[in-house]
Amino acid sequence: MRISSRKGPSGSSTALLALVALATPSALARRPDADKTTTTLPCTATSTSGAFYDLRADIAVHPKEDGTKPKASLGGPTADYHPRGWDYGANFTLNICAPVVEPFDNVKDIEEGHWQNISAYYQLKGEVYSLGFASTELVPRGKELVLQYSGGSYCEKKSSSSRRGDRTGLSARGVVHDGANFKSHEDESSDKDKSYHTLDKSNKDRRRKSATIMFTCDKDPTAGTAVVSFIAADPEECNYVFKVRSQHACAGAEPHKPGSVGPGSVFAIIFAIAVLVYLLGGIFYNRTINHSRGWKQLPNYSLWAGLWSFLSDFFIIATSSCARLLPNRRGYHHLSGSPTRGGMGRDREAENRLIDQYDEEWDD
Ligand SMILES: *[C@@H]1O[C@H](CO)[C@@H](O)[C@H](O)[C@H]1NC(C)=O
Ligand SMILES: *[C@@H]1O[C@H](CO)[C@@H](O)[C@H](O)[C@H]1NC(C)=O
Repeated sequence: MRISSRKGPSGSSTALLALVALATPSALARRPDADKTTTTLPCTATSTSGAFYDLRADIAVHPKEDGTKPKASLGGPTADYHPRGWDYGANFTLNICAPVVEPFDNVKDIEEGHWQNISAYYQLKGEVYSLGFASTELVPRGKELVLQYSGGSYCEKKSSSSRRGDRTGLSARGVVHDGANFKSHEDESSDKDKSYHTLDKSNKDRRRKSATIMFTCDKDPTAGTAVVSFIAADPEECNYVFKVRSQHACAGAEPHKPGSVGPGSVFAIIFAIAVLVYLLGGIFYNRTINHSRGWKQLPNYSLWAGLWSFLSDFFIIATSSCARLLPNRRGYHHLSGSPTRGGMGRDREAENRLIDQYDEEWDD
């Protein structure tokens, strides 16, 4: 087999290289576009480094009447998460990416119709303080993964904020809150005197409580459901920070989305374009420079023809030897009729005679 690479291919191979160089970025550039058009699933996120997070398995779900998990569940618990408040003075109830599943009522500052969308709250003196409505928007920040709920109960009355400044320290937090409660009742009575307009304006300026949930990867495979801990609340008691330790918060590979171009298809596209350019470029080169016609126009015709004839020869030899082997075996059994040993003996004799004959011929 000769490789006649001096003639045809120089032109076609440069064209091929140029095309691969052209095709590669454009084909790869398709992927982010395809990702953008396909909407990201709720409670999943893809970081800029390509890490994929899917926290849907940590969403607490409503249990069925008999207490078993519903079919659509992805393995989430059937009860809300209850992080302890420790020194805060109240325990919390929250769900990840979804409203809390356990019933509650008497929520401060939130209309009853919206209670079903509350994702986190704490209870103090019989009143529920919402920490925000459900959100499924996971935000990857570098290696961190953050989820935020907002639109909870009011942080506090504006008038009491100045009074609050002189009280500091985490240990005083619970006491401070009691003070704020008492103060709010005072404010309500004085608010009655104000006109509706000014009350509405002051309500707009008031901040609402929110929750910030950060996720950390728990590599322990025996770890069951996610563990939620309360970390801190800011001095205004507006933002509450929680930490979730979960095995689902570990960076994973993104499952292939239908409709987007996967790595395999990108390779196939590049390969197909490369073959096309090789053929067209080669034919063009051979027609114009070498003035070849017919099959000879194909790039590296002699190489491919040689390869083809080699393969077909190989195939013919292989099939014919197989064909010779199979009926012969049967033939021996048919013809010999005698015990195999005798047949083999006769074979040996015939072989030896043949070898002797060759030897004699060689000697001559
Ligand atoms: C919070 O929960 C813990 C344990 O579940 C309990 O001992 C404690 O009394 C609770 N605190 C409040 C304020 O309910
Ligand atoms: C609850 O949230 C869902 C999804 O964000 C929204 O479609 C629905 O209108 C909300 N319901 C209420 C009562 O706020």
